[in-house]
Amino acid sequence: MSVPADTTSPSPALDVFPSASIAPVSPYIFSGFLEHLGRCIYGGILPATRTTFPHTPRVPCPDAQFTETPRELLTPEGFRVDVLEVLRDELRVPLVRWPGGNYVSSYNWKDGVGPKEARKRRPELAWGGEESNVFGTDEFIAWCRVAKIEPYIVFNMGTGTLEDALHWIEYCNGTGDTYYANLRRQNTGRDEPHNVKYWALGNEVWGEWQVGQQTASAYATKARQWAHAIRLVDPSVVLVGCGETGVDHWDGVVLDELVDKVELHSIHLYTGFGPRDRSQVDKEYGRGVYGPDAAEYSIEVCKGLINKARFARNVSKPIKIAFDEYGVWDETVGTPQNGLEQFYNFADALAMASWLNVFIRQADVVDIACIAQSVNVISPLITSPTGLFRQTIYWPLYLFSRYMRDGIAVRVALESPTFAGETLPQWIASVKGRPKDLDASAVLHVDPGTSARSLRVAVVNRSEHASYEVPIRIAFERVGVQVEVHELWHQDVHARNGWGKEDEVSVKTRTERWNGRWTFREHSFTLLVLELPQ
Ligand code: AHR
Repeated sequence: MSVPADTTSPSPALDVFPSASIAPVSPYIFSGFLEHLGRCIYGGILPATRTTFPHTPRVPCPDAQFTETPRELLTPEGFRVDVLEVLRDELRVPLVRWPGGNYVSSYNWKDGVGPKEARKRRPELAWGGEESNVFGTDEFIAWCRVAKIEPYIVFNMGTGTLEDALHWIEYCNGTGDTYYANLRRQNTGRDEPHNVKYWALGNEVWGEWQVGQQTASAYATKARQWAHAIRLVDPSVVLVGCGETGVDHWDGVVLDELVDKVELHSIHLYTGFGPRDRSQVDKEYGRGVYGPDAAEYSIEVCKGLINKARFARNVSKPIKIAFDEYGVWDETVGTPQNGLEQFYNFADALAMASWLNVFIRQADVVDIACIAQSVNVISPLITSPTGLFRQTIYWPLYLFSRYMRDGIAVRVALESPTFAGETLPQWIASVKGRPKDLDASAVLHVDPGTSARSLRVAVVNRSEHASYEVPIRIAFERVGVQVEVHELWHQDVHARNGWGKEDEVSVKTRTERWNGRWTFREHSFTLLVLELPQ
């Protein structure tokens, strides 16, 4: 399809409708993901040890050679305090998906419980290398408890059997006098179950890189059988069916078959795949920052597929989307050889802000979104054995988690010039329309203590070179005289944080008089907090 010429360039304008609710924002859109891959678990959650230190960090770090993490930097359980504190106290991550990812499709959970010295060291089939199994189910649950995070476990639907899955649920949630419930008691020294509520029926079973790849109909038949049996062990679990990108043939087939057996349908998408041909590096900015528009299209189409399947099977309960892997990932940069360690620049932070705008605008159907991943692996956080730094993409996550949760997503209408260059995927312009330079979402927040109301408006100006002065009209509301402004901007879209320059890119906060318009700088992310007097 050809891209129509951009004959109009509308004057930018933003209308916000505080009384036009989309849905409450699910706190679970700020969720995370831990996979046994590179330095995510070993080096991120646990300190690296000589036998588990699998990769040299890609970002040159002060302790690039192996160094022990001092005991005082660990919790009594042996977890890294710094990573835990950022995820729990700064990003307020509510739920974490584990143990993969591709890793799970050959993972035997029984290798990872019981006395550590007896755990089996295994070849790791998804990413290469070896897995020590030092971190298993009980360690994951212990970490979740300290981190105040809800666990979300993915079943192995590659090499794993239904029997293994039933034993895993019994191990985690069983309260009776049964073998695996008792094994958990023996291993943990405690009676109470792990109470794992969220479970996924496999990971990317459609992918040719997956151990145990299947066709959509073969997977759907199997997943239906599994769902039935799993609920016989624990009827209270929340099950997530394995989708693809939301718009694929796979999604339709699986939803048609599973819609009455699951609560959520998972989709995965990454933006920012770099050009294979490095001579096209000048196209990277546009390919990166406008990419999340594809995710919005995926969600919109997937919502239609969900409702079509619900209609056919007469399912009245709403089925939501678990976007349980999303993020910015250039596979030519974050590779299996370097443990998928990607060193993000300022433009990547703008893409991350646009991703989060999508989840707010789609709050009626997106219940869970897990950034892939939570530490070291294509992550906002990079650790050394003794410290960490926050990558550029940390800042939008921090601001959204702080200001755009605990509220109701409301409708916005935006006029904006559009982007005429190449996007990734390329079909965005032809299928969805040219991406707008300005990208916005809004949340109405009511303070539970004081009932004070405020409107939080998140705007990404994705134009690399143009700043826009934008009238912002708040429908049917008076607005307070001041605005709180949180701005993420750097003159250089290639700027990065790193060791020794941890704050090169960070957010600036100030208060200004509100006059009904705002100038959004070129390539910037701005979050405005406007008081709505009673
Ligand atoms: O997050 C990295 C990988 O991306 C995951 O293991 C897999 O599920 C996806 O393809």
